Amino acid sequence: MKFSSLTKRISGTGADAWLTHYEAVAARTRGEDVIVLSVGDPDIDTPAPVLERAIEQLRRGDTHYVAAAGRLELRQASARAHAARTGQAVGAENVVYLAGAQNALFVASLCLLGPGDEVVTFEPMYPTYPATLEVGGARMVCAPTDAGLRPDLAALAALVTSRTRAILWASPNNPSGFVFNEAELAVIGELARRHDLWLIADEVYAGLAPGGRVPGLAARLPEQVVTLGSLSKSHAMTGWRAGWLVGPRELAVNAELLAMCMLFGLPGFVQEAAITALGIAPEAEQRTREYCRMRQQRFTAGLRGIGGLRPIEPEAGMFMLIDVSATGLSGREFVRALYGSQKVSVMDGAAFGAATAHCVRVCFATDESGIDSACERIRRFCATGLSGTCAAAR
Ligand SMILES: Cc1ncc(COP(=O)(O)O)c(C=O)c1O
Repeated sequence: MKFSSLTKRISGTGADAWLTHYEAVAARTRGEDVIVLSVGDPDIDTPAPVLERAIEQLRRGDTHYVAAAGRLELRQASARAHAARTGQAVGAENVVYLAGAQNALFVASLCLLGPGDEVVTFEPMYPTYPATLEVGGARMVCAPTDAGLRPDLAALAALVTSRTRAILWASPNNPSGFVFNEAELAVIGELARRHDLWLIADEVYAGLAPGGRVPGLAARLPEQVVTLGSLSKSHAMTGWRAGWLVGPRELAVNAELLAMCMLFGLPGFVQEAAITALGIAPEAEQRTREYCRMRQQRFTAGLRGIGGLRPIEPEAGMFMLIDVSATGLSGREFVRALYGSQKVSVMDGAAFGAATAHCVRVCFATDESGIDSACERIRRFCATGLSGTCAAAR
């Protein structure tokens, strides 16, 4: 039997990058001694008031169909939070609730990009971007990075053609943890103005940046910016799948129509819990930021002095890239060999693009003993396990 051409566009390299991770998770489930640092899922609980609210709503019978774009009170609360964070004046009519920022990006992609269109984005990038951007037939164009892994802005303008419809970036970035600065945004904003481009700002980690804010263009170009967000990272609520997009009214109308034929709204009890989550956002974000700051410090200290590794400190978030090129291994080889000998699962930098193929990514949002053991095992691997691993890992 035949499948649609779409299935080819969603089966990119992103899926392979998760193989070691899934292997490690399966081993952990079997009770084996493995340490999983390959996924961005904070090792802290959903805030108690959020959990209580969901349970209460479940008991009250909030288990029926809901408005596809999300309840008015929730969208109003999100609009207020967005306005306070970005300075862009928006209301409930600009907000659509979806199943996480991932789903919001999928919806934005289908609403804004079609066959023959191009969307420019930056390495290193979240591994689902290529498939999500190309699912509707558009083509992703990747801007090169400079030696410091920041976008090469001089090269950016040449990538914008008559086919370009949008520019997408994540700030803070996954995996580098870099935050786009005003100078970088000014170049992007100028191109968007000149070429009437959509700007898709993935701000799923914004709550983890200092003060819960990142520089952005939403207030300056309100008719062109689509902001994606979720409770996944800021509130340690990855499994609740509560995310949103904020954009011009007409986009929100189209996104709601798509949500109606694709999702039909988040469960009511999740929406009510999300209202509670937004109500405690300053404290919840502060908790996660502090948690990430402490873990990052511990991880950096644990890696100190390990020959062959060059940690690249993030500005925000829960990830760190480590340049492993001095070990003689590529990121992929390092991942396989480290897991094979020490049962520590990290992510291949190549999953985020060619610019980081010499790196691995670790998520340090995990318990302190896990960090300490992981660092010890990585130290042992680099001290003793490297000889002979090159050939084996290849
Ligand atoms: C950059 C980036 N965007 C989007 C997502 C998806 O987040 P959500 O859980 O809100 O779908 C992730 C998840 O790791 C991410 O790293």
